[in-house]
Amino acid sequence: MSDVVIRLRCAKRRGLNTSYIIWLFSFLQRLFSYLGNKEIHSARLERNEREERARGKSLECERCAAPSSIIVGSHVWVEDPDEAWLDGEVTEVKGDDIKINTTSGKTIVAKSANVYPKDPEFPSCGVDDMTKLAYLHEPGVLQNLRCRYDINEIYTYTGNILIAVNPFRRLPHLYSNHMMEQYKGAAFGELSPHPFAVADAAYRNMINEKISQAILVSGESGAGKTESTKSLMRYLAYMGGKASKTEERSVEQKVLESNPVLEAFGNAKTVRNNNSSRFGKFVEIQFDKKGQISGAAIRTYLLERSRVCQVSDPERNYHCFYMLCAAPAEDIEKYKLGNPRTFHYLKQSNCYDLDGVDEYKEYLATKRAMDVVGISQEEQDAIFRVVAAILHLGNVEFVKGKEIDSSQPKDDKSRFHLKTAAELFKCNLKALEDSLVKRVMVTRDESITKSLDPDTAALSRDALAKIVYSKLFDWLVDKINVSIGQDTASELLIGVLDIYGFESFKTNRNSNISRPNLLKIPY
Ligand SMILES: Nc1ncnc2c1ncn2[C@@H]1O[C@H](COP(=O)(O)OP(=O)(O)OP(=O)(O)O)[C@@H](O)[C@H]1O
Ligand SMILES: [Mg+2]
Repeated sequence: MSDVVIRLRCAKRRGLNTSYIIWLFSFLQRLFSYLGNKEIHSARLERNEREERARGKSLECERCAAPSSIIVGSHVWVEDPDEAWLDGEVTEVKGDDIKINTTSGKTIVAKSANVYPKDPEFPSCGVDDMTKLAYLHEPGVLQNLRCRYDINEIYTYTGNILIAVNPFRRLPHLYSNHMMEQYKGAAFGELSPHPFAVADAAYRNMINEKISQAILVSGESGAGKTESTKSLMRYLAYMGGKASKTEERSVEQKVLESNPVLEAFGNAKTVRNNNSSRFGKFVEIQFDKKGQISGAAIRTYLLERSRVCQVSDPERNYHCFYMLCAAPAEDIEKYKLGNPRTFHYLKQSNCYDLDGVDEYKEYLATKRAMDVVGISQEEQDAIFRVVAAILHLGNVEFVKGKEIDSSQPKDDKSRFHLKTAAELFKCNLKALEDSLVKRVMVTRDESITKSLDPDTAALSRDALAKIVYSKLFDWLVDKINVSIGQDTASELLIGVLDIYGFESFKTNRNSNISRPNLLKIPY
């Protein structure tokens, strides 16, 4: 279990810079994971104490207690290389060796340290809060998550943490307006575990205690962080939204509509997730004294730049490149595009299409979302010109030039792409070429121009593509922020962090219900 979504009281309102956010949240993640474990552990100890007392046994933590309390006839869990954990009954105890007949029919002899007690009275539907488990160890937690997952209960609390298991299919009934109504004002823990409950608790705490709040959503890639974040945002928009009296879109509509725009430019297909966010996002929703949304700000960080020019099979580059290649004919002509298979930055992988995704429709939908968040037609044209220029830039190849260690565009095809890139960037062709095949070193007295060999020129080309793309992304975020508008007078906000980077589990055994995603709320 490595994924945590934490809500914390955010005393500091503004001025969180990127490195501060990263440091803060990595620190908080460790802190809350420690506190969470401690809290759960104490809850467990308390419960065990009661149970052990009743049974006349001494108090011990369940992991420590396991070996000594295991006797012939005990129900236990034992590790299995294929199935992760198997349950069974102890048939023989010889010193440190325990023989178990598993329910799958296997007989296993294991060391006592690898055998964990199983609750024979575990309810068949599991429990909605892990602290209610008789034993809080890995097999117990996984068994509970699996039982609940099998009956479409994808959310489970662990004390004040919410764990979300990715259902990998739409469950619309869980996110309807009716559901939001149910969670409005309900005490935390009264209804089934749900991100709406987390968002509602954050909102109420903010209103009642007049303290800003933050929700941290964390989990490995594909866990469902972005989907959970969207549910949280929808609920906050529902609670704090006010219908706009004019034609103008409301702040909350703009915040919600910014998702498809950011996803088009910041998400890509990876081996783990067809719509993987390749950037971190912190959305700050500001509220007025009445608890209505008065402004918002989106901060993004750590966009994965290398993907722009390096894609490994079977992943893809950023979605926007493919949707632009599928744009209506007049746009294709305008940007001199064509089949994605003809562009170096896209053809390094054999994956071009996504199941169930029509890139043409995605292009139109992205443009519509851009309209909503206030990006004008002219600006949209400029954005896609830059995207197309990057694709053309990637097709410029270099060969040795006339001078030693110099380079020049390889052939007419490369010259065509260089010229097109310059046209689309609206920059001088010679200046663009020089920036790729030459390096200018400025010393105190003079500036020295050095020619670059073909390999280094190709590296310059890629460096330019990456920096331009990342600047474009930052520009988009700034543009969205200006359009949404911040409420500088607001003193209360709820921040939601959709973090990424916690992608490696040393052990992630249960592939069927893997990728848990936790939410934690400190009291
Ligand atoms: N609650 C949910 N209901 C339905 N489908 C979901 C849910 N959560 C996740 N999914 C599915 O799983 C996919 C991956 O989820 P999501 O993009 O939220 O993962 P992530 O944790 O943000 O991953 P990454 O770190 O790669 O961005 C979604 O595109 C969606 O198909
Ligand atoms: Mg994501």
